[in-house]
Amino acid sequence: MIQSHRTAAAAAVLALAVLAGGCAEAATGVRGTPGSAGVRDPYFPKLGNGGYDVRHYDLTLAYDPASGRLDGSAEITARATQDLSAFNLDLAGLTVTGAQVDGATAAWNRAGDELTLRPHDDLREGDEFTVGITYSGVPEPITDADGSTEGWLRTDGGAVAVGEPEGSMTWFPGNHHPSDKAAYDIRLTVPAGLEALSNGVRSELRKDPDGRVTSVWHTAEPMASYLATVAIGRYDTASATGPGALPVLTAAERPVAAASAALRGEIPEIVSRQVKRFGAYPFSAAGAIVTEDGTLGYALETQTRPVFPAASFDRTTLVHELAHQWFGNSVTPETWQDLWLNEGFATYAEWLYTEEYEDVPARTHFDRAYAQDANWAFPPAAPPAAANLFDPPVYQRGAMVLHKLRETVGDEVFDEILRGWPAKYRHANASTEDFTAYAESVAGKDLAPLWKTWLYGDGRPAES
Ligand code: ARG
Ligand code: ZN
Repeated sequence: MIQSHRTAAAAAVLALAVLAGGCAEAATGVRGTPGSAGVRDPYFPKLGNGGYDVRHYDLTLAYDPASGRLDGSAEITARATQDLSAFNLDLAGLTVTGAQVDGATAAWNRAGDELTLRPHDDLREGDEFTVGITYSGVPEPITDADGSTEGWLRTDGGAVAVGEPEGSMTWFPGNHHPSDKAAYDIRLTVPAGLEALSNGVRSELRKDPDGRVTSVWHTAEPMASYLATVAIGRYDTASATGPGALPVLTAAERPVAAASAALRGEIPEIVSRQVKRFGAYPFSAAGAIVTEDGTLGYALETQTRPVFPAASFDRTTLVHELAHQWFGNSVTPETWQDLWLNEGFATYAEWLYTEEYEDVPARTHFDRAYAQDANWAFPPAAPPAAANLFDPPVYQRGAMVLHKLRETVGDEVFDEILRGWPAKYRHANASTEDFTAYAESVAGKDLAPLWKTWLYGDGRPAES
């Protein structure tokens, strides 16, 4: 579907003007080319966009739970990585009502999930620029290839937004590929009596003249857009302090607030234990959001404040989602093919936790996982299709790779890798090859036989 604010005839006139060397070039002397409509992710070729790098998202969102309507504006600060005549943002559904680049009205066009902007003046490589988009509508969730639901999800009286791998484009326009991380300020306005939560630190909370409530959530450290979240509804909140004065804010929907309180209270301790294994906590806030069952089908490690349906709010899942703050959120996959670096590590973090605190050795988990056929369907860094991204080999076989690495290099070197990996790639992106090279550099030896069998090999190898 193609949607545009101009008529086709007007677009043709504009195109002719550009062909004739129109005003854009005259104004700046730059003649750019369009940024690409994707970054060639192996599973989602059109996710993300080329030609620029986002530095900061400033999102202003007003939500009306009764109608489900979202009124938004996004101010995006980015840097051009090539001379640009046009560039894309990813946005699914909703209606765009205005677009500016550097304060000047920009032409826009929509096709599928691509929002194309043509700035009045071409942008020069290296320039920082701002994009303003106003939009509104009732966000539609996305059904993933594996049948799960993501995006902006309506709840009974509110909403919860989750975005792995591509749902964030249902509620704000952006460069929605994990390779482009940015800082965020998310400003939420909701009816009186409701709470609105998001990532990071709440920097403002005020009652508006019209009776609604506005809160502003600041994420200072780089965040991949799939880790952005919003939760709106009747929540009880609780504040605590974690290691190094880390502010820990948890929230739970009222009906599940009491039942989740004790485990929410364990977060400071679990984070402290993980800091001992994985090194300094990478963000300036922590917490959790627990929702009533019926909307969200799985927990997600949304940055600083993972979200859980009440049914999955157990210690194992909590340990898993908190471990993702290092593995996935701070060290983020280069492409969706590298997802096992998130899920294998977070699963192994569960194994390490039970080994240290619950008397179940990691080897016991390894043996169980080894015995299950489903874990051997494909190598962890080679899911056959997007529908298999979150399948057991990515989690369980990913964790088995790490256990075999540990057995090969010994506990001491393995601990060094566990701490060194998130330190070396802190707030950055990393690939499977970055990991194997890093592990070899710490171990001081070639580990090719290990990778060949356990990471890349087809099928279940014989256990030695
Ligand atoms: N990353 C989540 C976890 O902690 C799972 C997300 C599942 N998403 C999906 N589209 N299937 O394991
Ligand atoms: Zn996970």
